[in-house]
Amino acid sequence: MKVLIVGSGGREHAIAWKVAQSPRVDKIYCAPGNAGIEEYAECVDIKAMEFDALAAFAKEKGIDLTVVGMDDPLVGGIVDVFEAQGLRVFGPRKNAAILEGSKAFSKDLMKKYNIPTAAYENFTDPQAALEYLKTSKFPIVLKADGLALGKGVLICNSYEEAEAGVREIMTDKKFGSAGNCMVIEEFMTGREVSVLSYVDGKTIKPMTSAQDHKRAGDGDTGLNTGGMGTFSPSPFYTEEVDEFCRKYIYQPTVDAMAAEGREFKGIIFFGLMLTEDGPKVLEYNARFGDPEAQVVLPRMKTDIVDVFEACIDGTLDQIDLQFEDNAAVCVVLASDGYPVSYKKGYLIEGLDAFKEKDGYYVFHAGTAKGKDGIVTNGGRVLGVTATGPNLKAARKNAYEAVDWVKFENKYYRNDIGKAIDEA
Ligand code: AMP
Ligand code: GLY
Repeated sequence: MKVLIVGSGGREHAIAWKVAQSPRVDKIYCAPGNAGIEEYAECVDIKAMEFDALAAFAKEKGIDLTVVGMDDPLVGGIVDVFEAQGLRVFGPRKNAAILEGSKAFSKDLMKKYNIPTAAYENFTDPQAALEYLKTSKFPIVLKADGLALGKGVLICNSYEEAEAGVREIMTDKKFGSAGNCMVIEEFMTGREVSVLSYVDGKTIKPMTSAQDHKRAGDGDTGLNTGGMGTFSPSPFYTEEVDEFCRKYIYQPTVDAMAAEGREFKGIIFFGLMLTEDGPKVLEYNARFGDPEAQVVLPRMKTDIVDVFEACIDGTLDQIDLQFEDNAAVCVVLASDGYPVSYKKGYLIEGLDAFKEKDGYYVFHAGTAKGKDGIVTNGGRVLGVTATGPNLKAARKNAYEAVDWVKFENKYYRNDIGKAIDEA
């Protein structure tokens, strides 16, 4: 069969790699793709938001299955456009992708269906938000309602900081229309865990857990980024936590969406905080995480194409979803200066080393083809993933592989997976 993947990051590279493992797949296309994805897929120069052009391409090539990796096209309704033309596509429709597309929607859903999350209020008027903040406890969390590249969340330690945050989000519209509405929520403490799950509208099958490192600097310092590294599984995600989440968070979320007439098919990514009062939802995403996919997919044993199709067909209950009993760590190699400003166009050396070694992967994010080879072309350049029998071994292997790759301005965190030592 022929598969089209929509997206261009490290996550889409990991999806393309996993799809390529399926004996059922003869040909993969990726739009727009990147220099690394080309190893598995023919990259086509159509942007992820060009729905009509993508659907026309899928028709012309006789694509059997399209997989959408990114949030913007999902929230924008790419799945509805494909379905209207009779094309098979993996991902939530627009009315379900709102689970990620509107934080106010997701908070109201959780409240209505008693799904554990932080206490909150939604605001569309900045003045009303400021009044509320005058009587609030600090720290407190401000969240732009819409998509903001993972940067629309502000943790404010004082009224003054919160006042500046309200101005940034709601008045100055730093995140554009994403700030037309804002959630103000209680600050929670605890371990964070990401659980990505396959959903077919009624059945949900959680994948193995992972943990991201969102800040740019060692020791969780510096600015928020798209994610600087991940490990899987999380040692803090115990069987007891898993049992609680399945019963009170995962299935209730799927059932709530169905009850609202917003049947969810695709990936639900649960961002969880393991608080003293039990696990609570920090956020939902309607897609694989990046770089969570880069540690979860290399550990997945089941044929992913079978799983994608079962989600579309509503037969996920018949899938035996299996993961390796090992661990994986991904260290993101970024351009120094990310997430603010950085130079691009530096030659990358050492990529061939990964071809000879089992259990080592290099997933491309911001790369391009230069005249002398592959060059840096973004803030997050590569994700280096290694597996091992346990988390410590996987981390040692990942950092060993980090040294194989050389480019000017290479920057990475040295403490990805340090929490493992505290487990
Ligand atoms: P989100 O995009 O909602 O996941 O927020 C990004 C990051 O902000 C999360 O991964 C947390 O580290 C932090 N965060 C979000 N909401 C809260 C909260 N209510 N309490 C504490 N930290 C939070
Ligand atoms: N790594 C966080 C995300 O994909 O949203």
